[in-house]
Amino acid sequence: MGLPFSTSQIREGAALINVPVLETCPDKSPDRAIYKAPVFYNPRMKLNRDSAVIVLKAHQRMFSKSFRLCEPMCGTGVRGIRLALEVEGLEEVVLGDVNPLAVRLTEINADLNNVLDRVRVRLMEANLLLALHTSRTQRFDYIDIDPYGSPVPYIDSALRACRDGGIIALTATDMAPLCGVNPRACLRRYGGWPLRTEYSKELALRLLISSLVLAAARLEMSINPIFSFSIDHYLRVYATVGRGAKGADSCLNEVGYILHCSNCLNRRVVRQSLWGVEEVCDVCGGKMEVGGPLWTGKLADPAFCSVMASISEEHLGDLRLVRLINLVRDEAELPPSFYNIDLHCSRLKVRSQPTNKILTSLRDAGFRAARTHFDERGVKSDASNLEFDRILKDLAERG
Ligand SMILES: C[S@@+](CC[C@H](N)C(=O)[O-])C[C@H]1O[C@@H](n2cnc3c(N)ncnc32)[C@H](O)[C@@H]1O
Ligand SMILES: [Zn+2]
Repeated sequence: MGLPFSTSQIREGAALINVPVLETCPDKSPDRAIYKAPVFYNPRMKLNRDSAVIVLKAHQRMFSKSFRLCEPMCGTGVRGIRLALEVEGLEEVVLGDVNPLAVRLTEINADLNNVLDRVRVRLMEANLLLALHTSRTQRFDYIDIDPYGSPVPYIDSALRACRDGGIIALTATDMAPLCGVNPRACLRRYGGWPLRTEYSKELALRLLISSLVLAAARLEMSINPIFSFSIDHYLRVYATVGRGAKGADSCLNEVGYILHCSNCLNRRVVRQSLWGVEEVCDVCGGKMEVGGPLWTGKLADPAFCSVMASISEEHLGDLRLVRLINLVRDEAELPPSFYNIDLHCSRLKVRSQPTNKILTSLRDAGFRAARTHFDERGVKSDASNLEFDRILKDLAERG
């Protein structure tokens, strides 16, 4: 096969893919072996790739038009080849990688799956590849940035190479900075300050989206998240891209700050500027920590998620993804942050309650409430911290 390493064949979705045999790597720990392999393939990112298939299928079902896409960091080519096989109407799939072995393996895999008529593979740095496609006729309808760590170094190029109405997908695996373990790195990379709270992963996703919004605004472009989530060890954002200053301005209106009181778990969302905002908790008088700037708008488009959910049930039958899509849809219209039931109950020293019971009580009391995909024991609601605590106490008293 002309490769200086052994491969084995795996099936993922509709594709048959040659992947490096990890046993040939000196390091036996599965994660390190994946990163040390001559070409990167992580079977645990299948759900990430499945989500790309479903997003594009949903987009095609809603708009049915021919499509050109680019995945400039393709590894074995599994994602792009799956998209070429599983999504109808793909006119051209441009795959790239800086690793010559990845490019060779992707060519072999494209040939194996008979998609060479619409898949082109380029040995090129991602920013360079995208820069070659910034003219109006060359731009892509879908760009998938799936790097090691942070997607930030590629965001500007992706925006320039995305056509008006196209979709940008980003994966971020640098959870330590984004979740506040290394806040300075987060500030440098994403331009926002993270917080270590029970809802850090949600803030991480909002920081990633705001860095996309701010980059887009500099180019007089806007973005609209249609499906975004946090799962396992990574974040994923799918957003449509619009061109024009007006859209950019309204996106900036959705960038703001979150104030969090670690004493009583109260939180407050402030849109746009912190000018004149009191950093004192209006519940307990404690000093509130400030996170952001971050995206305070919707993390998903509920109508788009409904189409995704039905396609996902028909197409893949992957219950984990179907459940994720439904959760993301149902929480999309609720405000930023959520309450972790067990944390609140332990602070109040009351017995913990089943999530469903709490959701029902909140709704009976006139609040909106939903589960959240960020946390099995999380509740999103427009009830304030005090109102949420009151419901927990009432439920505990009633036994
Ligand atoms: C996380 S892997 C991609 C996995 C692939 N997207 C998938 O779904 O299996 C990241 C890939 O990016 C490539 N890469 C890293 N930096 C790059 C750059 N600046 N330009 C192009 N490719 C790059 C690496 O060689 C590696 O194959
Ligand atoms: Zn407080």
